[in-house]
Amino acid sequence: MSNITRRSFIKLAALAASSASLTACSWSRVRGANEDIRIAIVGFRSRGLDHIDGFSKVKGVRITALCDVDSDVMAKGVALFQKRGQTVETYTDIRKLLESKNVDAISIATPNHWHSLGAIWSVQAGKDVYVEKPVSHEVWEGRKIIEAARKYKKIVQAGMQCRSSYSLAEAVEWVQAGNLGKIKVARGLCYKPRASIGKTTGDQIVPPNINYDLWTGPAELVAPHRNGSFGPVHYDWHWFWNYGNGDLGNQGIHQVDICRWFLGEKALSPRVFSIGGRLGYIDDGETPNTQMVFHDYPTAPLIFEVRGLPEKKGSKKMDHIHGLCWPNIPIPPQAMAIDPDEPLPPITDIQECIRHCIHDKSSMPETWT
Ligand SMILES: NC(=O)c1ccc[n+]([C@@H]2O[C@H](COP(=O)([O-])OP(=O)(O)OC[C@H]3O[C@@H](n4cnc5c(N)ncnc54)[C@H](O)[C@@H]3O)[C@@H](O)[C@H]2O)c1
Repeated sequence: MSNITRRSFIKLAALAASSASLTACSWSRVRGANEDIRIAIVGFRSRGLDHIDGFSKVKGVRITALCDVDSDVMAKGVALFQKRGQTVETYTDIRKLLESKNVDAISIATPNHWHSLGAIWSVQAGKDVYVEKPVSHEVWEGRKIIEAARKYKKIVQAGMQCRSSYSLAEAVEWVQAGNLGKIKVARGLCYKPRASIGKTTGDQIVPPNINYDLWTGPAELVAPHRNGSFGPVHYDWHWFWNYGNGDLGNQGIHQVDICRWFLGEKALSPRVFSIGGRLGYIDDGETPNTQMVFHDYPTAPLIFEVRGLPEKKGSKKMDHIHGLCWPNIPIPPQAMAIDPDEPLPPITDIQECIRHCIHDKSSMPETWT
């Protein structure tokens, strides 16, 4: 099967289309003359589903494996592919996935505490990587990803997809050309209602469908102390230091990045201070819902605010800020420049990047590692 010709692949694909499905083995090993890129999605309860959707639409890319530590999530993923007449290899443990010879690249949408280790193990196993934002849970481990990418000559791209917006890129160019004069300050705002996640009274029981040891991975292994609408494990980890970074490192990181982009700053600021707290309610969460950060960049200061506290209990309406009050404002809760003619959906970037670089590593731009 490994020496399959384009003609026989087309025959097989036609067979698949006429409702007979390829086995996991055959689907992943079929390589046409165009050298399809075979991708595995790691973590797909929520954001990873967008990865599945995005990669599925790209010609020359095949999702050949799924990995998730939650067997319920896995069953849904497998059913999705079965509906298409395709089967995929399935893994609970990323280390086993990385042994697969049927995967060229790994797309990671796990919680933040797994990003760096997942990316580093992947490049060590010879795979290219797309990893969700934030690149890493903390700074040191993010730097280790860059070292590993360079050492193993693999591509690692992170998911700050606003960078793929042509309209924003044009706006940055316009501002940097001096059309607004000298920029004296960049201000960013994460303005998204975050309600209380409730308060538990002790250790919560992990549902049997979740392998909690693997879910915890490199973080400290402690029983979950949360049980809001997402249950004791998923999504609300964002609000615990052991796994997440609060909204500053969640929604806010997109807007921080846009500010940095406008300023033309590429590194961390030499000095930073931040104040904030989890205000307005007492719940299990640890990270601030209200925060101000001052980044002392040489070009101009970047002042960033997180405003997550709804106006009152049960309300989705936000407090007033800078003359705005979401949702009674005519713009989405995050800043966005929209170009109706924008030709490229953001996620295609990495596929183009991988496709290009897998075949010609010499042309890999510095910024892609
Ligand atoms: N770029 C964006 O706009 C965007 C949007 C949403 C989320 N995200 C990012 O995507 C990531 C996931 O967010 P989410 O909301 O989907 O979280 P989630 O908790 O809803 O889902 C995470 C999934 O990863 C699985 N998982 C955990 N550890 C794993 C492991 N070691 N191996 C395999 N699977 C594992 C979980 O079982 C779950 O299915 C986060 O880092 C988040 O910041 C990015």
